[in-house]
Amino acid sequence: MEARTARARGMDWHDVPEAVFERMVAVRRDLHRHPELAFEEERTAGRIIDELKVLGIPCTYGGRGSGVIACLERDPGGPIVALRADMDALPGHESTELPFASTVEGRMHACGHDAHVAMVLGAAHLLAASPPDIGVRFLFQPAEEKGGGARTVIAEGGLEGVSAIFAAHVTQHYRVGEIMVAEGVITAQSDRFSIDVHGRGGHGARPHEAIDAVVIAGLLITALQTLVSREVDPLHPSVVTIGSVHAGTAPNVIAETARLEGSIRTTLPEVREHLHQGIRRMARAFGELHNARLEVRIDPGYPPVVNTPRESRLAWRAAAAVVGEGGMVRQEHPSLGGEDFSYYLEKVPGCYLRLGARGEGREFVPLHSPAFDIDEGVLRVGAACFDQLVRDAEALYRP
Ligand code: NI
Repeated sequence: MEARTARARGMDWHDVPEAVFERMVAVRRDLHRHPELAFEEERTAGRIIDELKVLGIPCTYGGRGSGVIACLERDPGGPIVALRADMDALPGHESTELPFASTVEGRMHACGHDAHVAMVLGAAHLLAASPPDIGVRFLFQPAEEKGGGARTVIAEGGLEGVSAIFAAHVTQHYRVGEIMVAEGVITAQSDRFSIDVHGRGGHGARPHEAIDAVVIAGLLITALQTLVSREVDPLHPSVVTIGSVHAGTAPNVIAETARLEGSIRTTLPEVREHLHQGIRRMARAFGELHNARLEVRIDPGYPPVVNTPRESRLAWRAAAAVVGEGGMVRQEHPSLGGEDFSYYLEKVPGCYLRLGARGEGREFVPLHSPAFDIDEGVLRVGAACFDQLVRDAEALYRP
């Protein structure tokens, strides 16, 4: 057995010991069979706690809806880096026909969070076998897909004493053995909005006696598209989508009300602010223009994930040590998807990586697809990468 002294360097991902890999596969398949939705991850947490017990890593868990928070510390009070995994699955039917496919109809690990849990446990296994001098906090959070479970873990003290935080998401955009690390914006701010148009109902043949909410809504839908196309710098990605329109009851009745619902995606706070103001401004102006009353409601979603420079450099070096420079991928452009890892990054610096999970010769399948699956080789990559990151972090955060 390897001496239990701090191993300064990590390892190439191919060299992750078979015993560690087998445990990760077993955990991942078990969680995959038993997916649990946001804030319901009780069985998942139980499995994580069992694994941590075997590794001798103490943890706390506040019960259903909470996160599992574990800490590996040689030197209490010293610097700590955090590794985060999300635990929740998605609603939807699984079509993979894998031998370990979901046994719960209408629920599926279609976003790979089963793999995230397994690889952070794999890193815990590697780190516990040869503990680093720096402390490591393992955060297994509920509800990434819905409800912002990151905030729960922060409220539970998950970031106390933490110098930096890291997380990774699997994706089939890249092959196993490829890692994407980038500084700056990784995912967009996503907000939802609704606009209620209040006109005056009437007879379809007598428009002069009514205020037609459908016509106003129709004009407004088109006008709103000019916010992005004519008012925002085209080099700053943003989207205003009207995804749902509801109005009217009969072909010969002028609708009194109409409701538009949409989504706003932005990567810069000033663009976001401009779009929020712009939607309100247009709604006000259309009310004035057409003698109607328009009500706007904007509900904020997850903030953007913005990787900090120092932690991105650290993650790049660690990832390159694990997959080689040839496996490193640069980000072409930020994703306009959302991710609640941003809540941690509002409190401490950190970096969010993407790990290639497409197997050799396999066709691309997107996240959230009923056919989503990973090549389990990515578990080795993730565990080795986190292990290396923690060992490299020592020099950076030790005062
Ligand atoms: Ni996800």
